[in-house]
Amino acid sequence: MPISLWKIVVFHFTAIPAVSWCLLNDVNPEENPDIPTIAKYFSTKGRYEEVNPHLIEDILAVNTSILQPPSAQCREIHLTAIIRHGTRYPTTKNVKKMQKLYDLVRGSAPAKDSWLRELQTQWTMWYTEDMDGRLVQKGVNDHRHLAVRLSKLFPSLISEKKLRGGLIKFITSSKHRCVNSTLSFKAGLTELWTIRDKEFEHAVNDALMRFFDQCTRFLEEVDNNPSAMTELDKFREGPEMKRVEEKIADRLGVEYNLITDDMAEAAFYLCAYEFAIKTVNSPWCRLFDEVDAQVMEYANDLKQYWKRGYGYDINSKSSCILFHDLFSRLDKAVSENQLGQPVTEAVTVQIGHAETLLPLLTLLGFFNDSDALTSTNYATQTQRSFRTSHMLPYAANLLFVLYDCGGGDLRLQPLLNEKPVPFPGLTDQKASMPLYQEVKKHYNDLLQGCDFETECQLFKNPG
Ligand SMILES: *[C@@H]1O[C@H](CO)[C@@H](O)[C@H](O)[C@H]1NC(C)=O
Ligand SMILES: *[C@@H]1O[C@H](CO)[C@@H](O)[C@H](O)[C@H]1NC(C)=O
Ligand SMILES: *[C@@H]1O[C@H](CO)[C@@H](O)[C@H](O)[C@H]1NC(C)=O
Repeated sequence: MPISLWKIVVFHFTAIPAVSWCLLNDVNPEENPDIPTIAKYFSTKGRYEEVNPHLIEDILAVNTSILQPPSAQCREIHLTAIIRHGTRYPTTKNVKKMQKLYDLVRGSAPAKDSWLRELQTQWTMWYTEDMDGRLVQKGVNDHRHLAVRLSKLFPSLISEKKLRGGLIKFITSSKHRCVNSTLSFKAGLTELWTIRDKEFEHAVNDALMRFFDQCTRFLEEVDNNPSAMTELDKFREGPEMKRVEEKIADRLGVEYNLITDDMAEAAFYLCAYEFAIKTVNSPWCRLFDEVDAQVMEYANDLKQYWKRGYGYDINSKSSCILFHDLFSRLDKAVSENQLGQPVTEAVTVQIGHAETLLPLLTLLGFFNDSDALTSTNYATQTQRSFRTSHMLPYAANLLFVLYDCGGGDLRLQPLLNEKPVPFPGLTDQKASMPLYQEVKKHYNDLLQGCDFETECQLFKNPG
């Protein structure tokens, strides 16, 4: 045997002790060496499988018993699915930050730690600026697989017959990653039913799926207003982040002043992207322990909270247009159903962004903690419900299922990431699904108001 090959064989037998062979087969992500221990803190850069770990073993697994209509009579009559695009490449801005960190690591003194030597000598910076947030192959699969799972969860709605009959409508944001996600979702269904004789259309609608771009007040007061992010800025300069940066500098063996908050962010992104895109537990992940990752997660949550969530009222109000669109679809399905007609739009699949989902979730009151997330309350917010890692991984989805339970008993079930969630404020109905009329009563103020044009005007008439 040539000496080099012999070395490889020995290396494999010594480097992988017997115990890890068991772990490799273990579906528990906590113990799987291919999954970074910090993977559950990746916020909006997280993998969908981290919020539904049973998918690691079987990506097409569904558990239909999670849907528990109050009686056996209940039939699904409409589904609206609002879905984030799948896994994507980093944006140009983040690739630039990652490149700077990579240059620093490559240029620093030769390391003795093997993981760091690997970063310096073997790992190559393969992310390029022209990747610009495009959907990756994993993202194509995210949507293909989601489509198949949803068809198994709602077989009477997402069916070949309904697709062929034009009863399933697709609407997407114009961004390439969303259009490609839409194509992938459709491909999931046409491959499942081996449909080759027909193509299915989709509509591009940025007014609905990128409402934030068209809401002047949001753009002026939040999105393009640097002072709107003071809590985030203060946290990034604060003691928790400083400690994370020093620990990274120590692990890299470089001066503390070389690791800025941008560098720490870039390191976190590198670990997250290598995992989300290639499913590898890369040496970049060695720059963080779990405590550090929780701080990084909080910084990301702060950003989403102030930019898209409860931080400013206009963040959620910018989604009024999507809110009304949803309820008018539900109302239409209800009235067709009441007339004994088949529901013409049985399923609506709407594909957009984390920035599409979060304002709507906020408008509906989901994940509303009693205290605001600020730069100074990291320690008291450890039990917060506002956790983008849980809410908004790639391919995150918010589903609304309308049921007819007979005798005018109509019910609405929301699901987030394929799991039933109670409408906030209607929690007493947790076990069953609330009556559609109760839901409408609960959101009456929004249904009567929440006018996109009015809310998004820069100078809103007070009162
Ligand atoms: C399916 O969901 C039900 C209800 O939530 C739960 O009791 C059951 O354990 C789940 N089954 C599997 C195989 O996960
Ligand atoms: C996405 O769509 C564009 C064209 O719209 C195509 O050039 C590109 O290859 C697609 N990417 C993926 C991953 O499907
Ligand atoms: C969120 O909670 C706060 C205080 O707990 C409350 O005033 C506010 O109305 C809630 N927002 C929504 C949209 O439910």
